[in-house]
Amino acid sequence: MAIEDVVRLALERGYFFPTAEIYPRAPAGFWEYGPLGTQLKRKFVEAWLREIVRRDEMLLIDGSQILPRDVFVASGHLETFADPISSCTRCNTIYRIDRLLEEHLGVKVPERTPPEEIDAIIRVNNFRCPSCGGELSPVSLFNMMFGLRVGGAGEEAYLRPETCQNIFIDFPRLYKISRRKLPIAFAQLGKSFRNEISPRQSLLRMREFTQAEVEVFFNPSKADDFEKFDVFRDYHLQISIDGEDVRMTCGDAVGRGIVSSRLVGYYLGLIQSFYLKLGIPPERLRLRRLGEAEKAFYAREGWDLEVLTSAGWVELVACNNRGDYDLSGHGRVSGADLTVTEDGVKVLPHIFELSMGVDRSILALLDIGYAEKGGRRILKMHPSLSPYTAAILPLLDRDELVSKARQVYDMLRLDFDVFFDTSGSIGRRYRRQDEIGTPYCITIDFETLKDDTVTVRDRDTMGQERLPITRLAEYISKAMRI
Ligand code: GLY
Repeated sequence: MAIEDVVRLALERGYFFPTAEIYPRAPAGFWEYGPLGTQLKRKFVEAWLREIVRRDEMLLIDGSQILPRDVFVASGHLETFADPISSCTRCNTIYRIDRLLEEHLGVKVPERTPPEEIDAIIRVNNFRCPSCGGELSPVSLFNMMFGLRVGGAGEEAYLRPETCQNIFIDFPRLYKISRRKLPIAFAQLGKSFRNEISPRQSLLRMREFTQAEVEVFFNPSKADDFEKFDVFRDYHLQISIDGEDVRMTCGDAVGRGIVSSRLVGYYLGLIQSFYLKLGIPPERLRLRRLGEAEKAFYAREGWDLEVLTSAGWVELVACNNRGDYDLSGHGRVSGADLTVTEDGVKVLPHIFELSMGVDRSILALLDIGYAEKGGRRILKMHPSLSPYTAAILPLLDRDELVSKARQVYDMLRLDFDVFFDTSGSIGRRYRRQDEIGTPYCITIDFETLKDDTVTVRDRDTMGQERLPITRLAEYISKAMRI
């Protein structure tokens, strides 16, 4: 099993496919979701809204994707959000050089390594262009933001490289209107944009992608004064530190100083439990503590929630303790007062974030759920996520069965995502549903015409049970519960 098998299935069934694919020169790194992928993505987002946003009583916002230059002066992205590149002096291919060195020499180049040090690695190893053997140019830094000009005056602006910047710059107003105290969490779902040098592996590294970000503002002197922590105190975190897996309760992780505070421990528990509830097998999930050289430039503590896919461990959520980095920067550049007053004292809140890559989560769910068994392709996923929850199938293409099946379909289709299919043998129709992940096939047969019962076939066990039509809605609703 490889990620390519999943991508092939996704292309065949239209889960997702390249943007502008009819144009030979369309740039890479942009993907469209077809009908099945759109439903899966919507359902994943609904699960996030339920299990993260509503469960934690967060407040949602929906901000602009284009933000003025000053925002990125303050955030540090103009100066620091850059990848090292080098081009071949003979064939002109441009490379993301840190990745290339890792792939070809096995040398790990830490983030923010100065270009001169990367040049030295190239020289010492006499490393040349892998396509034509040409000499590589000196390394330079390439800023990954998409810049644009706004209005007649051509004001400099950028497509946001992370959704969270809106939450930071909106903070004073959001805090005031929310009429809540710290800690307070705001969330946002939306598009972000990064001009990747070498986008790859379909939804894993895209130039336009969807993030679901949570930003928790807290008083740093009260990060352990956090009652909700009790929910996860005895919950086991699947921590990985320096390549070693250590399973310990949230309480222990905080007590031993591995996790910086109860607040951070609680949110690590919340995000881990989210993916486990969606059916990621526990042995394929870890919370990896990032070393100094791996952390983002704004983070003082970093954890990556990673899952094991057929392409290796993939980061799905960056969990960053950003300290006062963001509000200090925006306060300094904008001149606005971003402090809040607590117990008569002015406090500049710190921020902990759960930055989720929605598209990568979709790819990981497809990859982990996909299996081939005895010539049968099957996509296992939680019933709440499957694009269609049930298929309504008349046993044969006969008028009386088709019209009864149509009645069942009409009864369910406004409340559930159900699929109606009359074409081909019943076996083939089951297979088609297995392949797109539909957990239940509801078959209308001759007995249905007599007693209003149907068979319900389970995708994973292939077992069947007989149910009255009147119980179908309740049965499906129950199965979809997370
Ligand atoms: N907000 C963190 C990230 O986008 O990586």
